[in-house]
Amino acid sequence: MTITADTRTARPADPCSLVIFGASGDLTHRLLVPALYNLSAAGLLPDAFALIGVARSEMSSEAFRADLATSLPKYATRKVDDAVAKKLLAGVAYVQGEPDDPASYQRIGRELDRIERERATGGNRLFYLATPPTVFAAIGGHLGESGLAREADGAWRRVIIEKPFGTDLASARTLNRRLLGVLNEDQIFRIDHYLGKETVQNILVLRFANGLFEPIWNRDHIDHVQITVAEALTVGRRGNYYDATGALRDMVPNHLFQLLSLVAMEPPARFAADPVRAGKAELLDAVTLQSPEEAFHNSVRGQYGDGVVDNEVVAAYRQAKDVDPDSTTETYAALKLSIDNWRWAGVPFYLRTGKALRAKRTEVAIKFKQAPIAMFRDTPVEHLAQNFLVVGIQPNECIGLEFNAKVPGPSISIGGVGMTFKYEDYFAAPPSTGYETLIYDCMIGDAILYPRADGIEAGWRIVQPFIDAWRAAGGEGLASYRAGSDGPAEADRLIGGNGRRWRPLA
Ligand code: BG6
Repeated sequence: MTITADTRTARPADPCSLVIFGASGDLTHRLLVPALYNLSAAGLLPDAFALIGVARSEMSSEAFRADLATSLPKYATRKVDDAVAKKLLAGVAYVQGEPDDPASYQRIGRELDRIERERATGGNRLFYLATPPTVFAAIGGHLGESGLAREADGAWRRVIIEKPFGTDLASARTLNRRLLGVLNEDQIFRIDHYLGKETVQNILVLRFANGLFEPIWNRDHIDHVQITVAEALTVGRRGNYYDATGALRDMVPNHLFQLLSLVAMEPPARFAADPVRAGKAELLDAVTLQSPEEAFHNSVRGQYGDGVVDNEVVAAYRQAKDVDPDSTTETYAALKLSIDNWRWAGVPFYLRTGKALRAKRTEVAIKFKQAPIAMFRDTPVEHLAQNFLVVGIQPNECIGLEFNAKVPGPSISIGGVGMTFKYEDYFAAPPSTGYETLIYDCMIGDAILYPRADGIEAGWRIVQPFIDAWRAAGGEGLASYRAGSDGPAEADRLIGGNGRRWRPLA
């Protein structure tokens, strides 16, 4: 049976204006506007809605509207209905602005006053910072100080901040302090697009809407957990950003830690923003903090060399545009972490992520302890299939259970088999950008999918010793791997022992 995603139970969001900083950028065109289109097509965007784009270049509102009208069909996830697009674009305006110029915020304020009257948005405002992270603090500060984000007369004012939220623990703390100096925590929505993925949200449902898994979701039954976010994509044209960032900061404190905390957190008392976010932050708080020496020992970093990915020849990372030819930036990171609490003591969590790998694969694999197999003396333990519960996030959206079964025949011989639930077999959801739920949730004031300041800082606290250890080591210990492979061989040694090995990427 296929169940069609039903949005009828959801109400349209509150009337509001959305101000996007970084309106001329990629994110706005490729993801945000198509997501707004999808919300509008689903009847979830309010009729009283306005969109103001802000960017550095001079442009008229008409030109901005025309620009979005051209890019929308290019990036939309479904065929564009002219009537829906027209309705969405009718409320679009543009303001030229500089992040650090107070006069820009006065211009934005004047435009907001005008459009709020014209579109009857009731004064609710959502500011979306789709800019480079270097200007998050400046824009956040000006929004607070100019009064544009001050809540009054029942109207809400909220700010969505893109990633990366800081580049290390100190900068994340500084940014939190700056923002919390002018806004309340409940006005700040720090986005992590992994939380917009249905399969990621489903981890909580799998764990807490079923009585089946929770009793065995602990150190008594689980041997280890593997979290993989592998990409076939190379650094592409993002050399400037990526070479200063690396795989660890780009992916681990945000996307991988979201997966980690959903998989390992304690059951929250209620399915609501505060208990869920507190549970996730508490889990990250329980991750053992390693010294830089321990972190060095419990990690592998690698950089891709030449190779072939998806039948395409790929040049080594160091030859990519805007990458230092002597760069020691990692394009692959694998970490071993442990969690100091009753549920997880002694259960290693292995995390890996990288670019230019054999295939795109995001999954969480729970490896259960081996059965005592003394009964089946003829089957050596290494021939038994391992018991894995695998939550496939992308590209395969599925949940699979791998176990042993008797091979038909007169003797007892055992073979590994699997059962897989595929989302597409049960649910038909229209293709989306992944930003729809996140934007909609912010508009209705539900922060359940947005990490809080404490969660963000807890994430950086865990990775900081790895950052420090790798910075101190320079090129020492930087492994290399062939583009199109499963990653550096050194990562096998990190997980190896006790019969543990990484699941293959292909
Ligand atoms: C982004 C990273 O946050 O996530 C990119 O900056 C990465 O480097 C991307 O490619 C991966 O997202 P997804 O949704 O394709 O897994």
